[in-house]
Amino acid sequence: MSDSDKARTVEPAPRKPMTAPMVVARKGEAKLKMVTAYDAPTALIADRAGADIILVGDSVANVVLGHGDTLAVSVDVMVHHTAAVTRTKPKALVVADMPWLSYHSSTEDTVANAGKLVQDGGAGAVKLEGGRKRLPMVTAVLDAEIPVMGHLGLTPQSVHSMGGYKVQGKEAQAAYELISDAHALADAGVFAIVLEGVPDVVAQIVTNEIVIPTIGIGAGTHCDGQVLVFHDVTGLGAGEYLPKFVRQYANLADDAVAAIEEFFADVESGAFPSDAETYHMPAESAEILRNLSDPSDHFLADEAMERSP
Ligand code: KIV
Repeated sequence: MSDSDKARTVEPAPRKPMTAPMVVARKGEAKLKMVTAYDAPTALIADRAGADIILVGDSVANVVLGHGDTLAVSVDVMVHHTAAVTRTKPKALVVADMPWLSYHSSTEDTVANAGKLVQDGGAGAVKLEGGRKRLPMVTAVLDAEIPVMGHLGLTPQSVHSMGGYKVQGKEAQAAYELISDAHALADAGVFAIVLEGVPDVVAQIVTNEIVIPTIGIGAGTHCDGQVLVFHDVTGLGAGEYLPKFVRQYANLADDAVAAIEEFFADVESGAFPSDAETYHMPAESAEILRNLSDPSDHFLADEAMERSP
């Protein structure tokens, strides 16, 4: 084997498990790749694909559990799904969403809820929505040594107060407030901020001004990373409306329907199962069994049993 062949066959170094400080160190380096996952199969796929961060999003509510928005999930539901993801031991950092009302009443409740996502769910960090309004909660969680990811812009838990899922920060004053929120979160010590549904220039200013990575979803190209929902990327969703920022790379739902239809057709025709998909017993034992189960001659059956090894 020539030296150049050897160079080509060198295995890539094994990926190190991702941590919050490693995410911070990626500022200005290679773009961060983040995708949601809600259970073991989606986590395994996301990790095999090389995700830096797996987000157990509260979007589990509408994407997987059939709710109309993200408001329906509790801390226990988020722990349940986070634990399924972390049991696969991904190399990606697992970030668990703090659900609506789990960080709104007191710093004590907030820390207890964030603690459950880490202690019972195995998350390496939590994400919560909002800026300066949520600063005492953010600080309390950080003081408990739990890394926090921020989330600004179109924050789905505010669907009612926003009057729907609307792009945020389109006016100069609103954009200025959002940029100030980003500074406040970064100064408090969050390790990254998701910017959702904001004009690209706003995301660009935030990305240029803060020292931690920004991760965009519907925020244009200037962010330090991008995130999308697993079921949107893979076309595994229930066929609902997709926002314009989603790029769908596969149509797994159609592939799955085709696979199940083929299975049913084989069941109907008798083509499934084949001999190779069937368990067999030794021919001698099968013969004895056939005799045994012939109710017309129990005497012969008893004899056969006596003779059987
Ligand atoms: O819950 C979610 O899916 C999110 C997005 C950032 C993808 O928060």
